[in-house]
Order: sequence, then structure tokens, then C-alpha cells
Amino acid sequence: MATLSELCREHTTMSEAERDHLQDLTSLWGLLADLSFADLLLYAPKAGEGQTGLVLLGHMRPTTGVTLYRADLVGQTFSPDRRPVVDECLANGVITEGLVQIGADREVSIRAVPVRVDGQVVAVLARERLFSEDRPATVQERTYRRVFRRFADMIDRGDFPYQEEERLRHRTPRVGDGLLLVDAEGHIEFASPNAVSALHRLGMRRAAVGSRLEDTGLEATMLRQAFARRAAVISELDEGREVALVSHCLPLLDGRTATGAIVLVRDVTDLRRRDRQLVSKDTTIREIHHRVKNNLQTISSLLRLQGRRLKSVEARAALEESVRRVAAIAVVHETLAQSPDDDVAFTDLVRPLVRVVEESVSSPERPLSFTVEGEAGVLPSQMTTTLAVVLTELLQNAVDHAYRGATVPESGEPGRVHIVLDRRTDMLLVRVTDDGVGLPEGFNLAESDGLGLTIVRTFVESELGGTITLSPVKKGTGTVAEVRIPSSRLSGPWDDAQEPVA
Ligand SMILES: Nc1ncnc2c1ncn2[C@@H]1O[C@H](COP(=O)(O)OP(=O)(O)OP(=O)(O)O)[C@@H](O)[C@H]1O
Ligand SMILES: [Mg+2]
Repeated sequence: MATLSELCREHTTMSEAERDHLQDLTSLWGLLADLSFADLLLYAPKAGEGQTGLVLLGHMRPTTGVTLYRADLVGQTFSPDRRPVVDECLANGVITEGLVQIGADREVSIRAVPVRVDGQVVAVLARERLFSEDRPATVQERTYRRVFRRFADMIDRGDFPYQEEERLRHRTPRVGDGLLLVDAEGHIEFASPNAVSALHRLGMRRAAVGSRLEDTGLEATMLRQAFARRAAVISELDEGREVALVSHCLPLLDGRTATGAIVLVRDVTDLRRRDRQLVSKDTTIREIHHRVKNNLQTISSLLRLQGRRLKSVEARAALEESVRRVAAIAVVHETLAQSPDDDVAFTDLVRPLVRVVEESVSSPERPLSFTVEGEAGVLPSQMTTTLAVVLTELLQNAVDHAYRGATVPESGEPGRVHIVLDRRTDMLLVRVTDDGVGLPEGFNLAESDGLGLTIVRTFVESELGGTITLSPVKKGTGTVAEVRIPSSRLSGPWDDAQEPVA
């Protein structure tokens, strides 16, 4: 669906300032729809080459009543004789009321309000409801409708939306939040039931109507500020964490003077409590990450200590391998802990893992150079750890075996280990190619009993649901290891949480 400014650009010749004005108006008009118990529609005359009629720029339904239009009409063009009241309002530039026959049996009462920017009428805000609903039933309804008419007058004069629109940090207020109507002296003229409850929670025991807004316990300077700035003022009260209230104070203006205000009060106690819980959960998670990291370091040092005491070269090598494996997991862990959400771009992990492997080479028989190509995309955190271990083993094998006994060429050319990450629609391919001596004669992956490849095979096949192959490089020397993981395994659990197929 097209946005308001897209529709303006497409169908009208409005300036950017005029579009912004309408944007501001529609950011607050949910409240106006509530106050009028009616649908609000924003029409603009089409302009530009060969354009005629009225284009509907926006539609807001009330939360206080039933909508007239169930269908989405935004973007449609109306011929002026279908909305004569709107057309008249545009032509004369004054608020216009009237009845319009819609469909076979519906008589719709329309109040059309010119929307003015710098004295110029650029659009019409129409309040539309069934004629039969025109007689208000309760005091609350009458009050809200009167307040709506005051806002309508302000729109007509160009006083609303306010000049200086405080960008609403909070969601736009609706009347269900609780509404207080205040006069120019700050006396409460009307308080909706939800507003009364909110004030009770603040500790106010007296009747709200007749009291001064300053005595309610709400932010006392709010009203004066709103009058002085001729704009909305938002304030948040956090009563010692017992009650948290957000109030929006919207002044009612008549040219230079403020004739009163409405104050919308929303109880956000639950929201704020949840915010605080989230913050404390976040701290706990950080603390856990920290401890895990420390634990991994402790494990590494224990293994290293134990390794030093051993006489057997083989046993020492085994423990060194383990130190390296733990280090690889620590690298992944650290990256995961630093990412704000669970998903990590796997590519970011490859460099640190290469470093872990490089550090394990104590006396290089030949210098090595590692290159990385492509992107693996984002993986769920559990897969990330598993795939990181797999990649480390493959890299380690290249370092350990590919250049064993190889003579260093005259040129001093380093051995090249190339890592390719290729995320395709159906799978992720990870390829590690070296240009070393190649696999031993008669090598068979399925029968290989080394720990490294056993880990790789188990992880790839059972945890990642993928396949692994090791084969000689076709042209030249060396080994290429390829891991393929199907896409179905690469998305998070939330992607599986689809509606069950009937
Ligand atoms: N890139 C490679 N180039 C040459 N030979 C390789 C390569 N990768 C694996 N191999 C061969 O496969 C064997 C099995 O590897 P595997 O990783 O399972 O065990 P390992 O490396 O010998 O011991 P570990 O990984 O447990 O320290 C190796 O001993 C080696 O002979
Ligand atoms: Mg190995």
C-alpha cells in the first residue's frame, strides 16, 4: 500500500512542507477519530496534468465506535459529486456539514474541515458517520465530540497539528488511555473513568472534576509548558516505581490564546516493570557469558599444565590438540556473547578461527597463507559453534598434514590454504583447499580413525544434517574438503514455527 507522501507525490502538487503538515496531522489523528466516534478521512484535490477528482490520502477508524468502511479505500479517487460536502469545503475554505447518500441505504453525516498550511487549504479532513448515530447519548460522548470540534476548528485555523511537534517517543495516545479536559485556568472539567482510576493510583482521593490539574499528582508544570509552547507536552511519572504514568498534554488553542487542554493519562506500570526485568535479565546473561568464558580459559590452562608434565610426545600432542579445540570454542563463544541477538554472521568467525590454528603451529616447516572468499550468512548460534569446530579441524589438518615433509620451494612461496564460503538457496557450502602433499595413498574417509575427522564427520552428518567429502585437488596437488549443509538446517527454530499445514 502506498504511503501518505507517496500518494501526495503521485496525485498532487503539494510542497514538502505541506506533505509534512499532513504527516503530522495523521500521526495524531487516531485520537481525533476516537473523540469524534467516527471515521476520519483525508481527501486532497488531484492536481497535475489531466488529474481530476479527490484522492483519499488516509483513513483512520475510531476505537470508540464502529467503522463505516470495512474496506481499505486509501488511494482511491472519488468524483466530487460522490462527496459534495468535501468538494464544497474545498471550494469555500470553511467547515462544511451535510448528508451524503452512500450505497443504497446509508445516509452518512459528514463534517468537512479544511486543512490549512500557511493560509492555503491543501486537503480536507472529513469526519464521517451514520446520520442515525448523530445524537450523542452520554455526557462523555457529548464532551468528546465537543473536544473534537475544538480540534477541528484548530485544524481549520492552522493551529493543529502543533507547530512544534514533539516527536512522540511513546505510542500515540488514544482516548481509551484516560482523558482529562481542563479549562484555561487549569480546572478539570471532565475526567473519563480510566483517567479517574489513574489518578486514584496516584493517591488522589478527591473528586477529579472541579480540582485543579496541579493538585492531581500529575506533573504540575505540564499545563503551563503546553500553554506557553502552544504544543503538546509529554511527561512521565515514576512514583517510586509503584505507579508509572505517561501523560500527553495537548493544548486547545484559539489563535494566540489557549482555551484549555486535554490530558491523556496512560498507566505504563506494567510496561516499565517489564523493561526493568529485561534489563536485569540482560545483565544476568552477560554475567553468565563472562563465567563461561572464564571456565573455558580454566579448562585450557588445566590441559596445558597437564601436558607439560607428560613425557610421552604423543600424549602431549593430544593435550595440545585439546587446548586448541577449547580455544576454538572460546572464540565462537566470545563472538556470540558480543552479538546483541542470537545470530552471528559466520564469516566474522573465520578470521579468529584461522588465528587459533596459526597459533598452534610452533615451528612452521613452511610459511602458510590463508585466504577467505564469500559469505556464509547468518546462522543460528548452535550451528555456529558446531560449524566452527568443523572448520577448525579442517584447517588444522591442512596445517598438520598437507605440508608435512614438503620441501620449501626456492621461491619461498607459502603454502596456500583457501577457504570458500558459499551460501546458496538450497545449502551452505564450506570448502577448504590446500596445495600440499595430498591425502595418503588409499585414504578413505569412512574408515579414517583419526579423532579430528571423526569429530568432523559426526558433527556434519548428525548435527548439521549435511555431507563431507575429502578428495585430491583435480589439477595440481593438495586436498579439498567440502562440507555441504542443507538450507533447512540453517534457519532458526522460529522459522519452523509455522502454522501447521492442514
Ligand atoms: N589436508 C590434508 N592433507 C593431507 N592429509 C590429510 C589432510 N587432512 C587429513 N589428512 C589425513 O587424514 C588423516 C586423519 O585426519 P584426522 O584429523 O582425523 O586425524 P589427525 O589429524 O591425524 O589427528 P587429530 O586431528 O586427532 O589430531 C590424517 O592423519 C592425514 O593423514
Ligand atoms: Mg586432524
